[in-house]
Amino acid sequence: MTKEKKRLKVANPHIDYDTVWTYAPAPESTDHIHLKRRYELFINGEFVPPVKGKYFATVNPATEEKLAEVPEATGEDIDKAVAAARSAFEKVWSPMPPAERGKYIYRIARLLQERAREFAVIESLDGGKPIRESRDIDIPLAAAHFFYYAGWADKLEYAFPGRKTRPLGVAGQIIPWNFPLLMAAWKIAPALATGNTVVLKTAETTPLTAMKLAELFQDAELPPGVVNIVTGGGKTGQMIVNHPDVDKIAFTGSTEVGKYIRKALAGTGKRYTLELGGKAANIIFEDAAVDQAVEGIINGIFFNQGHVCCAGSRLYVQESIAPEILRKLKDRIATLIVGDPLDKNTDIGAINSRMQLEKIESYVRIGKEEGGAIFQPPCKLPAKGYWHPPTLFTDVSQSHRIVQEEIFGPVLPIQTFRTVDEVITKANNTPYGLSGGVWTDKGAKIFKVTKQIRAGVVWANTYNKFDPTSPFGGYKESGLGREGGLQGLLPYVELV
Ligand code: NAI
Ligand code: MG
Repeated sequence: MTKEKKRLKVANPHIDYDTVWTYAPAPESTDHIHLKRRYELFINGEFVPPVKGKYFATVNPATEEKLAEVPEATGEDIDKAVAAARSAFEKVWSPMPPAERGKYIYRIARLLQERAREFAVIESLDGGKPIRESRDIDIPLAAAHFFYYAGWADKLEYAFPGRKTRPLGVAGQIIPWNFPLLMAAWKIAPALATGNTVVLKTAETTPLTAMKLAELFQDAELPPGVVNIVTGGGKTGQMIVNHPDVDKIAFTGSTEVGKYIRKALAGTGKRYTLELGGKAANIIFEDAAVDQAVEGIINGIFFNQGHVCCAGSRLYVQESIAPEILRKLKDRIATLIVGDPLDKNTDIGAINSRMQLEKIESYVRIGKEEGGAIFQPPCKLPAKGYWHPPTLFTDVSQSHRIVQEEIFGPVLPIQTFRTVDEVITKANNTPYGLSGGVWTDKGAKIFKVTKQIRAGVVWANTYNKFDPTSPFGGYKESGLGREGGLQGLLPYVELV
């Protein structure tokens, strides 16, 4: 028995570690990846250097190595991008017959599908997520969004029967680092299908798949200026938000920046949608299929290192089955593989940035200081890079900060409950309302709970399932407006 297995056995005496599989490394190859050392801004169909000539690095969070550098766009660059988008809107994209617009969007979807492997590897290199997720979820779903909205382009009269639609103009879109390409697709596809043009800003730590997407737009011969992609930080984002010639803002990110955007846009007449934080309750009733629920809880919080706004980041277990669930959760997290994002066996990849790792670690400290009991399986973390083991907290209550605040990491506080009404009250007791989960074999219970939980999405007997046809968005401090589905068209049109 290896030293590692011995340590595991002490931590979890009930698991037979001799029969737990250890896998040989299975890293995805990077031979086919061609990254430039420096990327430029994608404005009016071309890659152009930033006016002020400033660049910053994006690193691989699993190795801390620099992958490439990208521009820090300033006011002059944003002016150029918005002007290109305006001109493309007026001269090319909005006058184009909708079926023609649809063809371009289909072409983007198909090219993305063809190059899926390249995009998946770059997403994992730049952001730290396991290749299994970028390969099976991020990239296919991004392509699916382009396919789906391509279909709507010439059918808007059926989306809004009896009404005509008019595009808004130039959409400013600001995206986060947790699903870089997928968030770009969520935002670009409906904007284009409805006849708008775009200026999109990527997140600081994950610009590379959007840069690749810009290359793909060139290959698809998308008319210049229809989509412009800029890189930069919060200041660059602010310039897009406050630009007088932008008609609509679509933002996904922190609640703090969401509040700033609402204030900045008050009284301007600009339309906006905000998709912000969350603190979803995942609820297991005593009549649930226990093993299925445990697997769903694991997927709900450890998927993408917990960097998911709709993560199942609070667990409520009915008291009678709590000991069993807790034991099974501990067993299961002890088998999760933390490490190289490019390895196909990896369950938990790298934390996206040093800043995010520090935030997660500070919440773990707070959890302990406030009296929570912590469980972490012994796991060997790589020496370089940003990593966090899967973490459970028991002995916590509603008022604990780790129960109320968004951690955005692989940390799960667990509480028990006795009655349905009690758990609904607890589930609703946060400032957020993005998502939730319920595990039971009683249909009536599902309907009661999903009706009373104030959240945009509530999954039943599953978790983190996405589809381009279904709308997504929050209540309360989780945001405003919906993305995805038929509903996701509405924020990009005026009904006339
Ligand atoms: P953030 O909200 O600062 O960043 C999201 C995007 O907004 C980035 O592209 C950023 O450059 C841009 N941005 C920042 N300040 C801006 C401003 N004043 N005006 C316009 N754009 C601005 O999020 P950050 O700092 O990366 O993460 C902080 C926390 O936010 C995370 O720990 C997590 O709790 C939460 N978060 C939630 C996300 C979600 O999907 N709802 C995604 C990312 C973060
Ligand atoms: Mg990076």
